[in-house]
Amino acid sequence: MGLFGSAKSRKIKPSKSVTGSIQLPGDKSISHRYAMLGAIAEGPSEIHFFSSSADCQSTLACLTKLGASIERKDNLVTVQGVGLRGLRPSREVLDAGNSGSTMRMLAGILAGQPFRSVLNGDASLSRRPMQRVIDPLTRMGARIRSAEGARPPLEIEGGALQPIRYELPVASAQVKSAVLFAGLYGEGETEVVEQITTRDHTEIALEQMGVEIGRHGQTISVRGPARLEGKAAHIPGDISSAAFFLAAALLVAESNLVIHNVGLNPTRTAILDVLASMGGDIHVLNVEMLHGELIGDVRVGSSRLEGGEIPPGLIPRLIDELPILAVLGTQTEKGLSFRGAGELRVKESDRLASIAENLRRMGAEVEELPDGLRVAGRQALRGTEIDGYGDHRIAMAFAVGGLVAQGTTLIRGSDCVDVSFPDFFDVLAGVTD
Ligand code: S3P
Repeated sequence: MGLFGSAKSRKIKPSKSVTGSIQLPGDKSISHRYAMLGAIAEGPSEIHFFSSSADCQSTLACLTKLGASIERKDNLVTVQGVGLRGLRPSREVLDAGNSGSTMRMLAGILAGQPFRSVLNGDASLSRRPMQRVIDPLTRMGARIRSAEGARPPLEIEGGALQPIRYELPVASAQVKSAVLFAGLYGEGETEVVEQITTRDHTEIALEQMGVEIGRHGQTISVRGPARLEGKAAHIPGDISSAAFFLAAALLVAESNLVIHNVGLNPTRTAILDVLASMGGDIHVLNVEMLHGELIGDVRVGSSRLEGGEIPPGLIPRLIDELPILAVLGTQTEKGLSFRGAGELRVKESDRLASIAENLRRMGAEVEELPDGLRVAGRQALRGTEIDGYGDHRIAMAFAVGGLVAQGTTLIRGSDCVDVSFPDFFDVLAGVTD
């Protein structure tokens, strides 16, 4: 069992085809943002197709403790906004669970509150770096204490904030969002400068809620104090969850799969570009704009994939898809490699190490670099015991690997998929044979 693994496991058998049509749960990133912003908006926000992930449930639980009234009926979440100044101190510690997004983005909102909050998380989150939000939020005027090495728990004494201009030292949409959220509370214009464009769901959700966002080159700005209007929204399917099914259908012979209502925001679709450029039979259909986000259907069929090197500039736009791309790389003609992805070492697990270790268990050749991986192509994978390392994307990536392996693959600690996609194994079983 891995560091944070559970006792549950799932068997994956080789598959003959991946066929049918599926719809995936709402995007995790967008769901977090609508929940948080809905809570500090005025009036209700009805959020349809809200992510079924445990991570987004952690966000809802934290917001409830802060005084927002939230109702959930399956995937319809209704948040009664309390307004920018309406949150109340929580008597209990706010538990972000496994969710880095919850902790980092909520820290931005808590920095603007005239009270003290404590944010904590599970064993994995407690090892993740928080200096990246402590720095800018402290500059804005919040007082933040952390455990050693800038790890959680975070104790945040919020208050009056001053606007800043902040150049992001790491390409991180979570940090960008934390600063913009704090900027909603500042007196004047807060600017964030990105070196590499990261997902812009925060900017879009704020605009949808009536907040004017400046976007000039790589600079994003917001003027505080802002007023947000509650909004009805439909969350597109999560492209990062779709990635596992895209890979499954590309790799398994005789496959033809349609994934409906996938979020196609250009800051998230690098996975489609990379797979298509390697020769993947991928078609995007029925594209429309919904609440500022592109959404459409993706059809994918079995393909011979060339492989190659993923350019470092693309990495922030497919950071969550790298585990499945590495597994897929073993089945390409030339293999697959990428650098500039040191961030993978501080995700839910050290993903470069988790991927390399599990690929080796499956008998594959892989070179682990400080900031990337080199995976040889045309490799036969061997069914074996896989350690999910308590990391949802590792468990799902190797479940897909199991579809093209010889023999049975056992995913240990398989229930960690709940973090982003609780029905993953059922949906997979529904399209494979
Ligand atoms: C996310 C941003 C990315 C991503 C994470 C979700 C977000 O993290 O890996 O799964 O919702 O903004 P970073 O901001 O740390 O790059």
